Amino acid sequence: MKRVYMDANATTPLLPEVMEDMRPYWIERFGNASSIHLDGQQAHAAVDNSRSTMAEFFNCHDAEVVFNSGGTEGDNTAIFGLLHPGDHFITTSIEHSAILEAAKRVAQHGVETTFVAPQASGLIEPTDILRAIRPQTRLISVMLANNETGVLQPVEEIGKIAADTGVFFHIDAVQGAGKVKFDVRRFGCHLCSISAHKMHGPKGTGAMFVRRGTPIEPLLVGGSHERRQRAGTENVPGIVGLAKAAELAMHSLEDGTPEGGVIDRLARLRDRLEAGVLKISGTGVNGVMDSGKPVPRAANTTNIWFDQVEGEALVIAMDLKGVAVSGGSACHSGATEPSHVLMAMGLDKTRARASLRFSLLKTATEADVDYVLKVVPEAVEHLRAISPVAAGTAG
Ligand SMILES: Cc1ncc(COP(=O)(O)O)c(C=O)c1O
Repeated sequence: MKRVYMDANATTPLLPEVMEDMRPYWIERFGNASSIHLDGQQAHAAVDNSRSTMAEFFNCHDAEVVFNSGGTEGDNTAIFGLLHPGDHFITTSIEHSAILEAAKRVAQHGVETTFVAPQASGLIEPTDILRAIRPQTRLISVMLANNETGVLQPVEEIGKIAADTGVFFHIDAVQGAGKVKFDVRRFGCHLCSISAHKMHGPKGTGAMFVRRGTPIEPLLVGGSHERRQRAGTENVPGIVGLAKAAELAMHSLEDGTPEGGVIDRLARLRDRLEAGVLKISGTGVNGVMDSGKPVPRAANTTNIWFDQVEGEALVIAMDLKGVAVSGGSACHSGATEPSHVLMAMGLDKTRARASLRFSLLKTATEADVDYVLKVVPEAVEHLRAISPVAAGTAG
């Protein structure tokens, strides 16, 4: 059976070029980057080169790049590394659990958090962040792209607010990296977390931009790796893979072909998919529209509700037909609670539960979209036909 993977926001496969660059560092060039012999120096050089690539990606100095294990670690480091008892923290109610759970942890140590709610569109209003600032506010953390809706947050404006008020600013850019032009100077942040596996790189590897002079305590202590900012023997193949994925992403964003770059192509495919799915009666896009105008969002994502359908049942029905999508954030799979993001945007529980996220890989094709557009209406029709809700027999 044909399989179409439309869950890129959960994870992505390695691009072949990434795999090729990583390969030697598992076997022939296996050295420890801290060793002084030739094997160690080869590994060290690979980490150094990767750091320069990541500095280009972030638009920062090499010394401002810290390699780590991914988005969760970066998000945790920003919060645990900067906040002390008595500090006030501002974030949003649509962040990933790597931020929300860390906020819960610091609450036990006397750090109060304000969770700013989004507009119905999924967008965070910068003035709501400004209004939340207090004399004790030490850190603001806002995501670049939401993992469930793809909505891009106005980080530059929030960066200006942080600068004007003297507050540190962290961006969880895990879902924005590789999808939008990246520039931490323009964003105006002190810290920025990314993860390789969301951008066709390896799992368990990421990086964090830490602006020079940001007084962040390391999460892990031990050896003097990463300029004492993150102890632990460097994951050399992972770092090499992250850098290759970032390099490919930079080039794909710059692609100036007449039809537009990879991202324009992806947006066209996503829009065609969305328009096709919306032809089914009783459906709609979650958020995105603000006073009749669309808000910016990542080119690969759409989140759609289906009346009289149970989202989980639809995910399973589509999986059985060879299509992988997600009924919420994959990082929460197993939890039966409706998506906290959709709920924060004002959806009721039933509609939030009856929503699907389609997130396209960069390698998605017209044929993939055609296949999904064949499968979704059939699956919805079938589920509605057997649904007690649709039949009006529900209690
Ligand atoms: C917005 C966001 N932040 C953080 C993470 C966690 O990243 P990682 O899987 O690299 O720990 C994810 C993963 O889904 C995410 O979507």
